Amino acid sequence: MDQIRVALVMGSISDYETVIETVKVLESFGIAYEKNVISAHRTPEDMVQYAKLASSRGLQVIIAAAGGAAHLPGMIASLTTLPVIGIPIKTSALDGLDSLLSINQMPAGIPVLTTAIGIAGAKNAALGAIRILALHDLDLAQKLIDYQNDLAQSVRDSNFK
Ligand code: RP5
Repeated sequence: MDQIRVALVMGSISDYETVIETVKVLESFGIAYEKNVISAHRTPEDMVQYAKLASSRGLQVIIAAAGGAAHLPGMIASLTTLPVIGIPIKTSALDGLDSLLSINQMPAGIPVLTTAIGIAGAKNAALGAIRILALHDLDLAQKLIDYQNDLAQSVRDSNFK
């Protein structure tokens, strides 16, 4: 079995309807990943243990999704030196602006690479993680080139005839 290189963490199982878009992209590129529901405020001790062990377990990128006062990505980033990509979940109260600002407005020193709110962000989180892995994986780099060529072709195909 392939070494799991990407970790998906979400603050609630309710986030999975967004994070499933991340999963679909990772699977389409054949990336081995694991997924867990770990809450920064409801299971903080589990979060600390998970983040501290992540690097020694061979994980290379952590994608963390959370909504509202979304401290999960920043807290995880504070407990590891692995790259952390945050997905702001769209919320009913503030449309995810709360999540976005909570995740991307990290004070200097502890970075969280933040995507767009919601589904676009969920997809791009996977693509961002894949770009990081592709730095040391030529096959993966070629798959990214093919992917972007396909995207370009789909735009050309959609053009007015
Ligand atoms: C956050 O609170 C989660 O990331 C989720 O987006 C939000 C709501 O959680 P639930 O009330 O649906 O469990 O911790």
